[in-house]
Amino acid sequence: MTTTKGLEGVVATQSAISSIIDDTLTYVGYDIDDLANNASFEEVIYLLWHQRLPKTDELAELKQQLADNMAVPQGVLDQFKMFPIDQVHPMSALRTAVSSLGLYDEKAEDMSEEANYEKAIKLQAKVATIVTAFSRIRKGLEPIAPKPELGYAANFLYMLNGDEPEEIAIEAFDKALVLHADHELNASTFTARVCVATLSDIYSGVTAAIGALKGPLHGGANEQVMKMLMEIGEEEKVESYIREKLDNKEKIMGFGHRVYRNGDPRAKHLREMSKRLTALRGEEKWYNMSTKIEGIVTGEKKLPPNVDFYSASVYHSLGIDHDLFTPIFAVSRFSGWIAHILEQYSNNRLIRPRADYVGPGMQKYVPIDQR
Ligand code: COA
Repeated sequence: MTTTKGLEGVVATQSAISSIIDDTLTYVGYDIDDLANNASFEEVIYLLWHQRLPKTDELAELKQQLADNMAVPQGVLDQFKMFPIDQVHPMSALRTAVSSLGLYDEKAEDMSEEANYEKAIKLQAKVATIVTAFSRIRKGLEPIAPKPELGYAANFLYMLNGDEPEEIAIEAFDKALVLHADHELNASTFTARVCVATLSDIYSGVTAAIGALKGPLHGGANEQVMKMLMEIGEEEKVESYIREKLDNKEKIMGFGHRVYRNGDPRAKHLREMSKRLTALRGEEKWYNMSTKIEGIVTGEKKLPPNVDFYSASVYHSLGIDHDLFTPIFAVSRFSGWIAHILEQYSNNRLIRPRADYVGPGMQKYVPIDQR
């Protein structure tokens, strides 16, 4: 048996959903650049779930279904008030809320294709409400009901802030959702597939995936990037701060990737957005600091920025609380997780690798009073 630490380079499944080949990311064969420039998040959801782009009526139907399913059972929201809400990370709240969502679904255990598709719509619709409602409840505000006439991105920002967002904010947020929607067999997607390959239900699969996304080596990195930018505080301090971290062999959040070697194709879209939005808000310093950090880290370590690096200053410029950055990643990635879960169900085999045992050899049980 050979062990591959971190399963690097191991091909664990076949998938028709997304690919990373020669540093190019595609969803169902469409280049991410093409989709980021042209597609809406709802079109991407349809693409990932059906492996083709929707026609006009199909897109309208999906939008309607999402709008119709955004309401969340009151019990799911009421539980937030029972949490020690000031100390709960929104990713933990999301993980618990999505798990409890399954308790209110009478079809939770129905494994038919039809029921699973219904649950897919419900999950994608309700995650936006859960994240925004949690954010409001912890500030002592009432959750806001979605406006059916708004698209997914606009509704999210509306439910978060209570005002209809500006066009530029909708456009940027929608693009961020498109860019984060799927990413081949990343850690959280693999987690979701491992979970449902036991024929566990879709709520369990998505809940497991949220837990995996939360970590700072995965989706949690975007929040850490903002924390770092705030800690640095000023452009003049970038150089010494980053060099000290590199000298101490500490990782710089938002850089490096297991698969990409010459750069993450999503980063340039977020860099561009960061430039535009920070300028619009008169807060160019976040963008300027970010480019300075990029210059040092790519120069010193040859590590290009990943999707999380510039998304931090983008979300900050949209006025979003920093600990909501990773839940927003989850809102988008629900679409990819669900696509992979449905694909796993359609051609399932239990995922059960082996471990190379390196513990002691055979031992004889010793009674407790003789140890
Ligand atoms: N900053 C500084 N050095 C980094 C680094 C970073 N962000 N990412 C990797 N490295 C270095 C490691 O220290 C290691 O150096 P060494 O060989 O001298 O020990 C080498 O590059 C390989 O790193 P490793 O962590 O083994 O690579 P991986 O493929 O297992 O990890 C990530 C990939 C993404 C987990 C890793 O790059 C990382 O931790 N990045 C920061 C977190 C992040 O942004 N995550 C979001 C990913 S989209």
